[in-house]
Amino acid sequence: MPAPRAVAPLAVISGAQVQRTLQGRERQIAELVEATYRLHSAGQSVNPPSYFLRFPDRPSARIIALPASIGGDVRVDGLKWISSFPENTSAGIPRASGVLILNDHDTGYPFACLEASIISATRTAALAASAADWLSRSRQRPARIGFFGVGLIARYVHTVLAATGWSFDEIGVHDVSADSAAGFCGYLEASATAGRVTVHDRAEDVIRSSDLVVFATVAARPHVSDLAWFDHNPVVLHVSLRDLAPEILFASTNIVDDVEHCLRADTSPHLAERLTGNRDFVHGTLDDVIAGRVTVPAAKPAVFSPFGLGVLDLAVGKYVYDHLDRSGELRVVDDFFHELRRYGSSPSSPEQR
Ligand SMILES: NC(=O)c1ccc[n+]([C@@H]2O[C@H](COP(=O)([O-])OP(=O)(O)OC[C@H]3O[C@@H](n4cnc5c(N)ncnc54)[C@H](O)[C@@H]3O)[C@@H](O)[C@H]2O)c1
Repeated sequence: MPAPRAVAPLAVISGAQVQRTLQGRERQIAELVEATYRLHSAGQSVNPPSYFLRFPDRPSARIIALPASIGGDVRVDGLKWISSFPENTSAGIPRASGVLILNDHDTGYPFACLEASIISATRTAALAASAADWLSRSRQRPARIGFFGVGLIARYVHTVLAATGWSFDEIGVHDVSADSAAGFCGYLEASATAGRVTVHDRAEDVIRSSDLVVFATVAARPHVSDLAWFDHNPVVLHVSLRDLAPEILFASTNIVDDVEHCLRADTSPHLAERLTGNRDFVHGTLDDVIAGRVTVPAAKPAVFSPFGLGVLDLAVGKYVYDHLDRSGELRVVDDFFHELRRYGSSPSSPEQR
C-alpha cells in the first residue's frame, strides 16, 4: 500500500487578510493579472463558461460560479462563487460577496477558502487598468476620466489606475444615486487625488467631458445609445458590460477579454451579436492588442468589454495564499479533512468490499 500523501490543511483567509496582502501592491497585482490573462489567451488554462444561478422571486440577484484551472508555473484549480444582490447597497452593505476555493493541483483537495469580493474587485480593476494603457497607446494618453456608476468597483478601478501611474487633470462622476456620487467624491478626497472633481447630473456630460470613461453601473440593459456623446473618440472601459446600446459598439473598436465568454449573458456585445447574427463587430481581444495583432485607431471610440475570467481570481487568490503562507499567517482548520485513511483508523485494515 503506498504511503499516504500529506494533505495540506484547509486555510481560511479573511477579507482583512486579503486586503492587507493586496493593498499597496497594486502594481505587482496588475502585472500578475496581465501575465495570467496572457497565459489564459495562450491556452494554458481551463476556463469554462461561468454559470449564472438566478431566482424567479429575486430577479435582480444572481450567484455566479466561475470554475477555472491555471497551468504554467502557477498550477492551481478552483472556483469563485460570487453573489450579486444589487439591493444590498440600500441596506448599507456591498452588492457582491463571495468565496474563492483553491484546489491542489495534484490531489484536488481544497487547501484554501478566501474571501473573494476584494480579490474579484482587484483583478477586475487590474485588467481594466491594463486595457486603459494598451487601448490608449495609439492616442494621446487620457487626462480626463469619467466614472459612470460609482460603487465599489469604480473605487477599485480608480485605486489601481492611480497605483499604476495614471493621473488625471479632471475626474468626472455620474451616478443615478446622489449618495453614491457623494460617497465616491469622499473617497477621492480621502485618497488625496489630484485633479478637479466634477459631479455630472447628466449622463451625456460625463461622457462628453472624459477621454477615458469607466462604466461600473448595475444596469441590466443598455441605457446609453446616443452616438454623438462619443464624438471625441474616448477609450471606454465597459466593466459593467450592459450599458451600451449595440449602435455604440458598431461605431467603435471593440476589444474583449475573451470572445466566447463575453458574448453571453445578455452583455451589450451579446445583444450586438444577436442583432447582426455575426461577430464581425468584435475587433479582437486585449491579448491581440498586447501582441500587436490588432491596432486600436485613435479615430474611433475604443470599447473594452471584460467578461471577467475565473483564472484571474485564481491567480490573485494563490498570490494571497502564498504570501500568507510565507509570512506564517495562514489560519488553518486542522481537522477539516477527517477521513484521510481509506480503510478507517488503522492503515493496515483489510480492504472493505
Ligand atoms: N466585468 C467584470 O469582470 C466585473 C467584475 C466585477 C464587477 N463587475 C460589474 O461592475 C458593476 C459595478 O459593481 P459594484 O460592485 O461597484 O456595484 P455597486 O452597486 O457598488 O455600484 C453600482 C453603482 O451604479 C449606479 N447605477 C446603477 N444604474 C446606473 C445608471 N443607469 N446610471 C448611472 N449609475 C447607475 C448605482 O447607483 C451604484 O452606485 C456591476 O455591474 C458588476 O457586475 C464586472
